[in-house]
Amino acid sequence: MKKWTGGVLIIGLACILLVSYSFIQKQPEKQSSYEFFHPNQEHTNFSNSEQPKGEKLQTFVKRPRLVNLDGLNYLFNSTHMPKEEEGKPLLAWGQMRLLLSRSDSLPMTAQGIKEAAVAWKELQSTIDENRASKFVHNKERNCSFSVISMNNATSFSIPCGLIEDSSITVIAIPKGNQDGFQIEFVGLEGKEEADVILSYNVVLSGNNFTKEPFIAQNTWTYEFGWGKEERCPSHGSPNNAKVDGLVKCNEQLMGSSLEENSTSKQLIVNNKNKSSNGSDVSGHDNHMVSNFPFLDGSLFTATIWVGVEGFHATVNGRHETSFAYREKLEPWLVSGVRVKGGLHIISTLAKGLPVSENLDMAIDLEELKAPLISNKSKRLLLLIGVFSSGNNFERRMALRRSWMKYEAVRSGVVAVRFFIGLHKNKEVNFELWREAQAYQDVQLMPFVDYYSLLTLKTIAICIMGTKIFPAKYIMKTDDDAFVRVDEILASLKTKTSDGLLYGQVSLDSKPQRDKDNKWYISTEEWPHESYPPWAHGPGYVISRDIAKFIVRGHHERSLKLFKLEDVAMGIWIEEFKKHVREVQYENDERFYNAGCEPNYILAHYQNPRMVLCLWEKMQKEHKPDCCD
Ligand SMILES: *[C@@H]1O[C@H](CO)[C@@H](O)[C@H](O)[C@H]1NC(C)=O
Ligand SMILES: *[C@@H]1O[C@H](CO)[C@@H](O)[C@H](O)[C@H]1NC(C)=O
Ligand SMILES: *[C@@H]1O[C@H](CO)[C@@H](O)[C@H](O)[C@H]1NC(C)=O
Ligand SMILES: *[C@@H]1O[C@H](CO)[C@@H](O)[C@H](O)[C@H]1NC(C)=O
Ligand SMILES: *[C@@H]1O[C@H](CO)[C@@H](O)[C@H](O)[C@H]1NC(C)=O
Ligand SMILES: *[C@@H]1O[C@H](CO)[C@@H](O)[C@H](O)[C@H]1NC(C)=O
Ligand SMILES: *[C@@H]1O[C@H](CO)[C@@H](O)[C@H](O)[C@H]1NC(C)=O
Ligand SMILES: *[C@@H]1O[C@H](CO)[C@@H](O)[C@H](O)[C@H]1NC(C)=O
Repeated sequence: MKKWTGGVLIIGLACILLVSYSFIQKQPEKQSSYEFFHPNQEHTNFSNSEQPKGEKLQTFVKRPRLVNLDGLNYLFNSTHMPKEEEGKPLLAWGQMRLLLSRSDSLPMTAQGIKEAAVAWKELQSTIDENRASKFVHNKERNCSFSVISMNNATSFSIPCGLIEDSSITVIAIPKGNQDGFQIEFVGLEGKEEADVILSYNVVLSGNNFTKEPFIAQNTWTYEFGWGKEERCPSHGSPNNAKVDGLVKCNEQLMGSSLEENSTSKQLIVNNKNKSSNGSDVSGHDNHMVSNFPFLDGSLFTATIWVGVEGFHATVNGRHETSFAYREKLEPWLVSGVRVKGGLHIISTLAKGLPVSENLDMAIDLEELKAPLISNKSKRLLLLIGVFSSGNNFERRMALRRSWMKYEAVRSGVVAVRFFIGLHKNKEVNFELWREAQAYQDVQLMPFVDYYSLLTLKTIAICIMGTKIFPAKYIMKTDDDAFVRVDEILASLKTKTSDGLLYGQVSLDSKPQRDKDNKWYISTEEWPHESYPPWAHGPGYVISRDIAKFIVRGHHERSLKLFKLEDVAMGIWIEEFKKHVREVQYENDERFYNAGCEPNYILAHYQNPRMVLCLWEKMQKEHKPDCCD
C-alpha cells in the first residue's frame, strides 16, 4: 500500500513537472503571438541579434526593422546620463530606445532625434558650467515676458519661443513707392538658413492702383522651399475651413463679397480711370479700397497672435486672417521676427512670451514638490501623465498650484508627471532642467517636441505606470486641462480594474481624408473606413493590464505606431481585445474636451488663469463651476 502511494506520488510529481515544463515552453510563443498589426507594411525583416534579451521569436511575425538614427547613440549613451537624484527626469527616457529605432517610425522621428542630440549636448554643458559656478546663479534671466523694439529695427529675437496667446504687434506706416512689406516669424538658425514659420506678406496696390491689394501667407523651409500660399482675399477658392473658430480670410476686407470676381476687376479698372480722370470719384469704390486694412501712408496696428491651431492677425482691431500651423513649423520654434520691405516702423512689441518661475524666489516650492515615491511603497492607485512642452512654464505652475494639490496627489496615492520633449532653445532646456530638479515631477523625452511624436509620450506614460511607478490605473491628460482627481477616483471605484478605457469615448468615427484638415490621415496610415473606439485625448484612463499590453507590444514591435495619440490608444486597445480579454469602454460626458461645463470632471482649453480660478472656486464653493 505504502509502495503504491509512493509510486503514485512520484508519477504524479513527474506529471506535474511535465505539465509545467510544457507551460514554460509555451509561454514565449504565447507572448509573441500577437498578430502584427500593420497591414501595409510588406517587409518581413528582423535580425535576431536585435531581439531584446530573453525573448525568442517562435512565430514569423511581420515586424518593422530596427534602424540606427543620427544622434540615437548619443542620447542613450549612459556615460552622458546624470546619475542618482539628478537623473530622475530621465526614468522613462532610458526605456525608449526601441521605440525610436523602428523603421516604421512616426513622421519627424529622425529629425526630432537628431535635434534632440544637439540640444542634449548643449544642455549637458550648460549644466556642467552651472555646477562649476554653483553659487553665482544670478545670471541675467532672458526668457522674458515681453520684448519691445522701438524705432525701425527690422528684426528682433524672441528669446524662448512663442506659446498660446503670445502676440507680436507691429505699429507702422507703409511707405509709398513700394509694393508692400513682409512680416516673418523665423525659427532658430542652425547650419542652414532658418525656417520661416509664418510669412505674412502684404502686397499693396501700388501708386496708381494698378493691382488689387492682398495678403499672402506661407511657410518656407530650407528642405522644401516655399509651401502652398494662402491668399486673402481668396477669389474663386473660398476656403470655409476655420482655424480656432476664426475664418481664414475676412472677405469683408475687399468690401462686398457678393460679386467677388467682378468687383475686384471693376475696382482696378475704376481706380485706373479715376486716377487718370480724377473727377469721377465714386464713394462706393472708395469704400472698398479703404476696407483693405493696409494703405500707403496710413498708420496701422497689426497684431499676430498665437492660437491653439494657428496664427491669427488682427489689424486695426478687426480680425483679418488666420493661418493653420503646418507640420513641423510650430509656434514654440519661433526665435525671431523679421520685417522687410516698404515699412516705416514706429514700434514692435512681443508679449505674452513664456517666462519660467524664478526658482530662487519661489516660496511654495516645498509645498508643491512632488511627494517622494519610494520603491517600497505599495502600488499607486493612479498615475497621471500630463503632456506638456518645454516653454509652457506657466501652465505647469498653474497645475501645481491647483489640481495637483488634491489630497490624493499630496499623499502619494496618485502621482502626476509631466512628459516633455526637449526644446531647441538652450535657455528653455536649462530652465526646464532646473524646474525638473526643483519639483521632481518632470519626465524628459529623448526627442524634440514635434506634434507628430506625441504618441511616443503616450507609450512613455504606460512605461512609467507599469515599470517605474506601477499603478492600478493610468491616465493621460494635457497641461491645459483641469482634472478633478477626487471625482475621477470616486468614479473609478465603480469601474472594473481589468480591460478598462474610461473617458469621453468615440465609438464610431472615421479617418479624416481631407488633405487640408489638421487630422488628415492617408490610407497608408490607416486603410480602414473607420476607427475602433477611442477616448478623446484631453483626458482618459486605462487599466494596468492594457498599459502592460501596450508596453510589451511596443517592446516586441508588434503594435502599430499611429500619429494621433488618442486614436492610437484605441487601436492598441482593439488589439488587446482580440488577444487578451474583453474591454469595458466607459463613456463619461463629463470629460469635456472642448472647454468647460458646470459639473465637469475634466475641463479642457483652460489657460493658467482659468485653471487657478477653477481651483479657487472648487475650494470656496465645493462644486464644479466654470471660469471664463
Ligand atoms: C533587412 O535588414 C538588413 C539590415 O538590418 C538590410 O540590410 C536588408 O536590406 C533588409 N532587408 C529587407 C528585405 O528589407
Ligand atoms: C559613450 O560616450 C563616451 C564618451 O563620450 C564614448 O567614449 C563611448 O564610446 C560612448 N559609447 C557608445 C556606445 O557610443
Ligand atoms: C531707420 O533705419 C534706417 C536703416 O535701416 C536708418 O538709416 C534710419 O536712420 C532709421 N530711422 C529711424 C527713425 O530710426
Ligand atoms: C541670454 O543671456 C546670456 C547672457 O546673459 C546670453 O549669452 C544669451 O545670448 C542670451 N540668450 C538669448 C536668447 O537672448
Ligand atoms: C503711375 O502713373 C504715373 C502718371 O500718372 C506714371 O508716370 C507712372 O509710371 C505710373 N506708375 C506705375 C507703376 O504704373
Ligand atoms: C471667380 O472666377 C473663377 C475663375 O477665375 C471662377 O471659377 C469662380 O467661380 C468665380 N467666382 C465667383 C463667385 O464668381
Ligand atoms: C477705363 O479706361 C480704359 C482706358 O484707359 C477704358 O478702356 C475702359 O473702358 C475704362 N473703364 C471704364 C469702366 O470706364
Ligand atoms: C471720367 O471718366 C468717366 C468714365 O470713367 C467719364 O464718364 C467722364 O466723362 C470722365 N470725366 C472727365 C472729366 O474726363
